[in-house]
Amino acid sequence: MRIDASKVDRIVDAYGCHRDSLISILQDVQAECSYLPEDALKRVAKRLKLPLIQVYGVATFFKAFSLQPRGEHMVRVCLGTACHVRGAPAVLDEVRRQLDVEPGETTEDSRFTLETVNCLGACALGPLVVVDSEYQGQITPGKVKRVLKQYMNDGRGK
Ligand code: FES
Repeated sequence: MRIDASKVDRIVDAYGCHRDSLISILQDVQAECSYLPEDALKRVAKRLKLPLIQVYGVATFFKAFSLQPRGEHMVRVCLGTACHVRGAPAVLDEVRRQLDVEPGETTEDSRFTLETVNCLGACALGPLVVVDSEYQGQITPGKVKRVLKQYMNDGRGK
């Protein structure tokens, strides 16, 4: 993806072109593009006069940043201990089957990206799947299709 450099410039300028704001700048670029395209990282590095490797270092250190395009909806399946013992692996298998992607991948139609996480801090609700910011607690493989369908047919996106 080629990004409009002026968009990155606007974000960098909003932070006074300050190197200490690198994380905030990357967060805003990701919010704009849904991920961190290589061109955008190069532009940020150039504008902040930082080595590109340093910008990449930050972008790859934080799990919240993605260097790959993300789907319209983010599906996070918790595999933390509490969710695991309550059946999360079977839930993950069903999500993989329904979306036909592996964790870290995005569906061909760019609707969904699947990720696994290691505890979302709501263990009492486990097994837990979070779609975007909506928590789907005590989910079972049998409920997965119905939950995902809400987002497949939400009339937004493609
Ligand atoms: S282990 Fe899943 S929310 Fe804590």
